[in-house]
This record gives sequence, C-alpha cells and structure tokens, in this order.
Amino acid sequence: MILPPQHPLSAGLTSDSRLVRAYRGERSDVTPVWFMRQAGRSLPEYRDLRVGTRMLDACLEPAMAAEITLQPVRRHRVDAGIFFSDIVVPLKLVGVDVEIQPGRGPVFSRGYADAAGVAELTAIDPARLDEASAPITEAVGRVVAELNATPPSGGGAAGSNEPGSTPLIGFAGAPFTLAAYLAEGGPSKDHLAARTLMHADPGAWRALMDWTAELTGRFLRTQVLAGASAAQLFDSWAGALSLADYETHVAPASTKALGFVHDLAYEIPDATGDAAARATRSVPVVHFGVGTGELLGAMHDIGVDTVGVDYRIPLDVAAQRIGDGVPLQGNLDPALLAAPWPVLESAVREVLERGQSAPAHVFNLGHGVPPETDPTVLTRVVQLVHEASA
Ligand code: CP3
Repeated sequence: MILPPQHPLSAGLTSDSRLVRAYRGERSDVTPVWFMRQAGRSLPEYRDLRVGTRMLDACLEPAMAAEITLQPVRRHRVDAGIFFSDIVVPLKLVGVDVEIQPGRGPVFSRGYADAAGVAELTAIDPARLDEASAPITEAVGRVVAELNATPPSGGGAAGSNEPGSTPLIGFAGAPFTLAAYLAEGGPSKDHLAARTLMHADPGAWRALMDWTAELTGRFLRTQVLAGASAAQLFDSWAGALSLADYETHVAPASTKALGFVHDLAYEIPDATGDAAARATRSVPVVHFGVGTGELLGAMHDIGVDTVGVDYRIPLDVAAQRIGDGVPLQGNLDPALLAAPWPVLESAVREVLERGQSAPAHVFNLGHGVPPETDPTVLTRVVQLVHEASA
C-alpha cells in the first residue's frame, strides 16, 4: 500500500532526514542520534507530567503521550522522536488484564503458560485492535503535526542544516518478548515459562506466537499509517534463546509481525522526472534485542533494514557477524552515562569509530536510558556525536 501524500515520508519531510537516510545505508553531514527510553523518568518534565497518572493511562491519553514523546526531542535535539507507549499497550487495548508496576514492568492478572491459557487468549480477535486504536492514531498525529511545524533539531554547534522535519519512530514488542511476559504473567529473569512452553507444547506455542505477531504487527502498522517514518521491533529478551530455538520457534513470528508494515511504501520522484515512472521505497525497519550477539545475523535475516546492537558486542564485530552492507544502530553502554565526562567522551568517540565499519550508523545506547541519568549529560552526548562525526 502506498502511504497517503500527507504522510511525512510521502510528503518528502522525513524521507531525506539523517535518520531515514542512515536506515537505508546512506551517511549524512553528521551521524544521527537518539536514545532508547529517551522519554521517561530521566526527565523532570516527564516526572511532573506523570504525577497522579498511571503508566498505561498516560500511554492512552493522546495529549499526554504526544507531549511526553516531544519532550526529549525539544530538550536534547535528537534526530528522532520515539513514540511514547509500551509494548503491552496493544494487549491492554484488546482487553487483556495488564498493568505496569513502577520499578517492575508489565504484570498480568494471570500467566498464559499452557494450552488452555493460550486458547483463552487467542480467542480474542487481534483485528479488534484496529477499532481500539484511536488513542494511538490521535497521539501519533499530534506528535507528527508538531514535528512538522518545528525545524529539525540540526547538529547543535555542528550546524543545523537538516532539511524537512524530525522523523518519529514507531515501535512494537516482538512476539517472543511479549510471550515472555505473557507466559510468566509478569517480568522474569530467564523467561523460563515461555521457553518451557515452546518445547513442551509446540502447537500451543505457535498459536501464542501467531496471535501475538498479528496483534503487535497491527500496533506497528497503526503508528506508521498515523505518521511514523520508521518502525523498530524490540525483541528485548531474545538473548535468552539459542540460535536454533530462535530460528525455529521465534523468527517466523517476528517475520509475520513485520509483514504488517513491509507493504507500506512511499513514492520518490524519478530522476528522469517521468511522473509515470515513480519509484517506491518501503518504510525502514530496525530490529533490536539485548544480549543477542549470537543472533545478530538471524535477526537481520527476518527482513529488516537496520540491526540495533546492544553494548556487549563492539559495532565492528557486529558488522562482521551480520555481513556487509547492513546499517547498524547502537551501542554505548548506558552505565557510562554516569561516568566522569572524559571517560564517557572517549567511549562515545570509540562507538562512532567502530560504527564506521557499517555503511551507515545511528548512534544510540546499547539499551535504555537508566532513570537516574542526568539529562544534561544526554544533551551533551548528542552535541558530541554531532560535532565528532561532522
Ligand atoms: O522513550 C522510549 O524509548 C519510548 C517509550 C518506551 C517505553 N517502553 C516507555 C516506558 C518503549 C520503546 C518501551 C518498550 C518496552 N517496554 C520494552 C522494550 C524496550 C526495552 O527496554 O527493552 C520492554 C521490555 C517494555 C516493558 C516494560 N515497560 C518495562 C521493563 C518497564 C520498566 C519498569 C520500570 O518501572 O522500571 C516498562 C515501563 C515503562 N515503559 C516506563 C516507560 C517510560 C517506565 C514507567 C514509568 O515511567 O512510570
């Protein structure tokens, strides 16, 4: 499907942004940078806004979700916003009983660790998400309207000659990471319930993964249709799996989830100016997981443009493992944000240096911003990335 002409990619507002160019393997004037969990508790303006509102209620209140998404873009002048939401929001929207407990994460009223539980869950039609998605569509619309009305962040001291507007990244949880919470009924260290179900009852496991893939795929599609210019699939806990289990029991469902955005394309003017000969490009997709050093190639093979790398593997090693020609995103160890500036600065420079081994690099952390992070340090890292890569 061709995205409507007013979509930021179709309108040419974000299609040549540093971020979108990097995701298709092209380098720009400077290396683009954003941070996983850039919106959230590290920002005092976020903590102020959230007082008295539960996490999932904040996600489903469009004005609040939009404002929280924009806060780090304004403050840090990052090259992308990431939609403020959560991987369990689509579950909540179709009626699954889930809440997010501060300091803990998603907690369900029960676990779905056997065939009976899976049958109950999968009796819910994932297509119901589309009828319940109005708060998502409205929040994304508000974010994109403001991003389009504001000049892009630019490179701070290194120049602000970025054309168009700042892109918004939409995201969703990969089926395995969602299943890891669903099977257990909440957060766990090793995701044992999910890994047991996978082998004990492969049929029930497949049903759970298929259902989750459709639900999370629809969530991602909704965000792109509403105006997001890229999509990131978080398989945060895939690092708990062997390569064989990932390939057999998980990758097919992740491929299915991405099928909900792979058909979304935008037209680019043909170099010859022949209107009838317009070429199309699809929406860029990023795939990220934690502790997935052994899985990087397989995570690329599910059909993504860019691979997000956590902090355990240097980017040049990741580039070797994945193979030539794949843009990388990452991978500063978040722990370094609390280190003295000279230590942090040299680590940032090293990440940029190693990122040169990929055709293009989007600077990020190797996982999310820790809540205790001093936000002025994040702003300084953005400036350093822009200056050092110029
Ligand atoms: O800025 C951003 O990156 C966008 C927002 C975002 C959130 N969750 C907001 C959030 C994103 C991309 C997510 C995805 C998410 N949620 C993942 C995948 C990314 C990752 O970190 O690996 C996972 C595993 C979850 C599940 C989840 N939700 C966890 C583990 C937690 C943390 C619990 C805690 O309190 O420490 C949440 C809650 C959550 N999601 C918060 C935020 C800002 C904190 C809630 C709060 O501020 O009260």
